This record gives sequence, structure tokens and C-alpha cells, in this order.
Amino acid sequence: MELHYKKNNLLQEQADVYVVTVFKDKINYQKILKEIDKKLNKKIISFLSSNQTAQGLGEITSFPVGTELKAKHLFILGLGDKKSFTVDKLRSQIANVCRKANALKLESIAFSLEETFDATGKKNDAIQAFSEGLFLGQYSFNKHKTENKKVDIKSISLHKLQKGNAQSIEKILERGRIFADATNLRKDLANEPANFMTPTKMSEVALKIAEENNLDCQIINKSAAEELGMGSYLSVAAGSNQEPKFIILKYTHKNATNKPIALVGKGITFDTGGISLKPSAGMEEMKGDMSGAATVLGVMQAIGAIKPKVNVIGIAPCTENMPGGKATKPGDVVYAMNGKSIEVLNTDAEGRLVLADALAFAVQEKCSAIIDIATLTGAMMISLGSVRTGVFANNDKLYEKLEKASKKANEPIWRLPLDEAYGKMIISNVADIQNIGGREAGSITAAKFLEHFVKKTPWIHMDIAGVMSVKQSKGELSKGMSGNPVRTLINLVCDY
Ligand code: BES
Ligand code: ZN
Ligand code: ZN
Repeated sequence: MELHYKKNNLLQEQADVYVVTVFKDKINYQKILKEIDKKLNKKIISFLSSNQTAQGLGEITSFPVGTELKAKHLFILGLGDKKSFTVDKLRSQIANVCRKANALKLESIAFSLEETFDATGKKNDAIQAFSEGLFLGQYSFNKHKTENKKVDIKSISLHKLQKGNAQSIEKILERGRIFADATNLRKDLANEPANFMTPTKMSEVALKIAEENNLDCQIINKSAAEELGMGSYLSVAAGSNQEPKFIILKYTHKNATNKPIALVGKGITFDTGGISLKPSAGMEEMKGDMSGAATVLGVMQAIGAIKPKVNVIGIAPCTENMPGGKATKPGDVVYAMNGKSIEVLNTDAEGRLVLADALAFAVQEKCSAIIDIATLTGAMMISLGSVRTGVFANNDKLYEKLEKASKKANEPIWRLPLDEAYGKMIISNVADIQNIGGREAGSITAAKFLEHFVKKTPWIHMDIAGVMSVKQSKGELSKGMSGNPVRTLINLVCDY
């Protein structure tokens, strides 16, 4: 889809639909609205004046237009109270406009949003959010539908902003596209059924991202992982016929001096539970158990495109978790690459087993900070639902950075504790630690388990099990696997 900033007036542009906005403000209609009103025999403003609901946030009124305008349709997008308008509301509403255009099979949209951007008080952020909303709102996973494919929007234009030069506006629009593309990639990878999105496929995607964005990519296969002593990670792969792939992507900036930030994503391409088999109802959701790894790939793609002055390593340990003759059994003891012994009491608590070696690997790489992203515990869905990501941190400064990044992305988080008392719940009778606690505090004992593998490195653990998927399309969120927390992490890395 083409997206361009154009200096001409909206009314000079040929398009399937014009989009202009209205705030709940009877007297001060926007200049562009008054111009359109004149062309349409004053129908618009008289309608808006007598239909206050049309000005409410999220109301899209579609006006029929004949030959008066160079567009076939006119959308008036209501934005509610001007004083409480925000960048987040803009992102969400723009996505909804795209959805409506998709439903009407419209292929070109022209926007005039001068005063809308100004109303947020953060013009550049608003322009980026506008661009994100466009690309996020149009997302759908229809690759495997052989009929009734949706009609894509082919071109979008944004018209005349008095302030700001064209070049810098184009650049911000492009940044929004990079954020959205990375988010949509994460959705695509997680929505893809597990018979397509195998560990090998994940590694091929990583190699392609590396090639296109000038990143270094290394794939550790099974025998190399054995040599490295990744016994914990490999114990999860033992029951699968799919070869495990441990993916490493490196972004290096020639002027950056920091020891790299590590982004580590759980990459279980399908989680059956293993010998501790899951119930069959809803098991198909577990194709999304590589959402952490998908997030890492998306973020690395964006970083490669944006090129911030900072070094970053993306680590994605990928494997299936299957039962089988060679599968790990409850009670087995395995050794992670840092030498720690783990008693596997439940093979369905496999995410922490693959992360154990991935975190130890990040420590070995002398990373300055580690952030892991994992669909780790069902308990997270119980505590925070699908609204906020549960976050654990051993470092307040790093947490504050993440909080800022998450607010900017509108991907909310909530911090949970790491008291040592929770750590006591995973001490094993036969090994150093065991991979489950009791019924209590399941997300916290999982985080305490991970903590054993990060040593003193500043570390954040994001349990995204609750926000893994979206039940209903709304704003920038599309039904199916979510894009969370890709935009948060791009922000974090770029502002590091
Ligand atoms: N992948 C699951 C967690 C999960 C559940 C993610 C639902 C998204 C939606 C994880 O591997 C798992 O099965 N965890 C177990 C841990 C338990 C055995 C201690 C769980 O949460 O039930
Ligand atoms: Zn599991
Ligand atoms: Zn899992």
C-alpha cells in the first residue's frame, strides 16, 4: 500500500473516500469541513449541528456524494471531546476507518487531519500513530482462505499540513509503517498454523529478516545445542520430530558502545504439554506459544530498518513440545548450559525450560540488559486477563524505561513481585530447582525460576500469555494473535 504526504488541498485529490474529522464543538468546525460544506450545499454542518452523536468518539458518518467532490464517499469521523483527545485515540480511530473502507471495498483514501494532529498536543507522535493505525487496522490473516479474499487499500494520502516540511512528515509516516509492519509480522507468524510455522520455518524467516535488514544471523541446530550443553532446551524438543532451532539475530551499530541488550523470546511452535498432555479443548491456541519469539523477530526487523545507535541481540529458542517415545518424562532431571540441574515435574511447564538456556546464553554473551518475552503461564490470564502484560524486573531503572515505552505504545503492563519467599516454592528434592511450584502464584514462581539463569544482569520478564491473542477486532487490535508487545520494545530499544 502506498502512503504519501501531499501538499495539495484534499479537495484536489481524486480518491474513493475523503476522511475529515469533527470534535464535539458546535462552533469551531475545522476549515476543511467548512470548505466541503460549501461544496455540498451546506448539508454537512447542518447535519452535524442537529446530530450531536455524529461527533462522538468513533462515530463514522458516511455521506453520499455525487459530482460535487472528487471522491465517491465522504467519511466524517467523530472524535468526541477535543480536550481529552489523545494520540492513542487517534491510532485506534484511524484503524477503524480503514476497516470501514475495507468493508466497502474502497481502494484509495485521502485524509485531511491538520487540526486533528494539533489537538493531541504531540504532533509528531500523532503522525506516527496515524501511520500505525492505517497499517494495523488493515491487518487480517486470510492467507489460507481460498475464496472471498478482502480487497486491499492501494493508496492513502495525507494532505497539507501547514507546519512541518514534507520530507520530515514522510519520514515519520515511514517510521509508523516500520512499527506496524513489525507488529503485523509478529501476528502473521503466530497466526500461522503449527504445521506451517515449524522451528525450521522460524529460522528461515529469521534468515530472511537478517538478509533484508543487514543483521547477523546464526542458527544453532540440535547437535550444536548439544555441544553447548543446552540440556534444558533440548529436553523440550526430545519428543518432537521437528528439528529444534535456536535463533540468534545480532544488530550492531558502528558507533554504539553499549554491551548489547538481549531480547529473548519463547518459541514453542506448538505446545501440546508433552507427556503432561494438555486437554484437547482449545489446544489449537497453542500454535501461538511462539509469540515471544515472533515478537523478537518483529522487533529485530524494525531495529534493522530504523538503525538506532545501540547494540541488540535477539534470541529465539524454537521447538515443539510433543509427547512421544523419546519425550521427557515427569521426574526427569536435566542440566542447563550454566550447569544448574532441573527436575522436570511437569512437561507442560516447558517455556521456562527453553528460556533457561536462552537466558544463560544471553549472560554468556555479556549483555547489559536482558528482556524476555514469553507466553509463559495460564495463571497470568487469571490474574491480569487480556488487558495488561505481567512484568517482573530485578532492576527499577530498566522497569521505568519499559513502562515509558509501553505507555507510548499503548500496550499496558503491570509489575509483579519477585520476593525470595516465592523462590522457596521451586526448590527441588533431587535437583537444584524444579520446574513448577504449587497451585499458588504460578506466574511468580515461573519468574523466580527464570531468575536463576540471569545472574545479576538487569533483567525483565514479560509474561504475555494473557495478551497473546485478541477476541474481537477493535481499533488497532485485530482478532487472532495479537501484536503485543512489539511496539513497546521498539520504543524501548530506540530510546535506550
Ligand atoms: N504455553 C503455556 C501457557 C499458556 C496458557 C499460554 C494459555 C497462553 C495461553 C505454558 O507452557 C503452560 O502450559 N504453562 C502451564 C504451567 C503449569 C504446568 C505450571 C500452565 O500455565 O498451566
Ligand atoms: Zn506448556
Ligand atoms: Zn507453553
